[in-house]
Amino acid sequence: MKIIQEIKNIIKKNKPLKLIVRYFKIKKMLKFPMQVQIETTSVCNSACITCSHKTMVRPKTHMDFDLFKKIIDDCAQNKRYIKKMGLFFMGEPFLAPDIFKEITYAKSKGIKNLFLISNGSILNKEMAEKVLNSGLNEIIFSIDGATKETFEKIRVGLNFEQVISNITNLLKLRKQFNKTKPKVIIDMVVTPNGKNEVNQLKKKWQNLADQVIIRSMHYFEGINENLIIYAKKKTEKIKGDFPCPYLWKSFTIFQNGQVSLCCMDVNGRNIVGDVNQSSIKDIWHGKLINKYRQLHLINKKNNISACLNCDFYKVKGKPWWWF
Ligand SMILES: C[S@@+](CC[C@H](N)C(=O)[O-])C[C@H]1O[C@@H](n2cnc3c(N)ncnc32)[C@H](O)[C@@H]1O
Ligand code: SF4
Repeated sequence: MKIIQEIKNIIKKNKPLKLIVRYFKIKKMLKFPMQVQIETTSVCNSACITCSHKTMVRPKTHMDFDLFKKIIDDCAQNKRYIKKMGLFFMGEPFLAPDIFKEITYAKSKGIKNLFLISNGSILNKEMAEKVLNSGLNEIIFSIDGATKETFEKIRVGLNFEQVISNITNLLKLRKQFNKTKPKVIIDMVVTPNGKNEVNQLKKKWQNLADQVIIRSMHYFEGINENLIIYAKKKTEKIKGDFPCPYLWKSFTIFQNGQVSLCCMDVNGRNIVGDVNQSSIKDIWHGKLINKYRQLHLINKKNNISACLNCDFYKVKGKPWWWF
């Protein structure tokens, strides 16, 4: 690891070398998206204060299984380029009626690193057993507080004890069945309500789950103004502007097949294609997405409605070989 870091440092300081690395990285990224995100459902049973779901204007419904199959068949032909595939977007994936059929289908077509993010609220014992037998590689549970009071203030509509018991039951069953998959990650988005519970949450989960991730909150369209100010305060410290790497690496498909500019465009302000009509490759090389990439490269991303207030690219930081 230390050697890799040293090599990166040498490349970073040497402009011609950096340009060569950049050229090959981008060439590879443009072949096919390395992260594909499929909104198996846009229905949710919570109204989290951090999330745009409650104000989202798009239809709240499930993806049709035939459409899902079409997407996976397209991805299967290009699977060597895909590093990660997420079966969720704006919604709770376990509310999707076909979720287990979808996981099994994607795995049967050779999709690696298949994961989803869940609020953990409806994952009962029967579903947990299905998860363990599905081949899913990773499951991330969003828990934004260590206490009932805080959790339920943030994840409005969910029951703290129920969520904790569902996750611990899944972990127990995984051990009982002697399985290693899926990897279980606990994810906390730090809010003003939960910021004092970070250590408590880490302490509770670090020996139970496989990993604990603590993340900064970012801007999300339609959330409370005070939360937007809180999120922006964190990112305004990150100086300099750079193109958002997500336009070169991730592909977000809505429940109806429309493709959004990125995973922050929850309302589909800048649709770049539709997988009902075009292949992923055609959309990835399409005029629309290239127009938006160009605007990012010339530092005019504020001309794009979905990018106007976005700070997500700053939260994630600039890749070491980027512009
Ligand atoms: C939109 S949710 C969908 C999946 C599922 N319903 C859940 O809550 O885990 C995906 C992830 O976005 C996170 N999220 C919601 N609002 C956020 C914000 N303002 N900043 C950062 N992450 C946020 C959630 O905590 C969750 O981990
Ligand atoms: S963060 Fe997840 S659980 Fe909460 S409202 Fe958004 S989609 Fe639903």
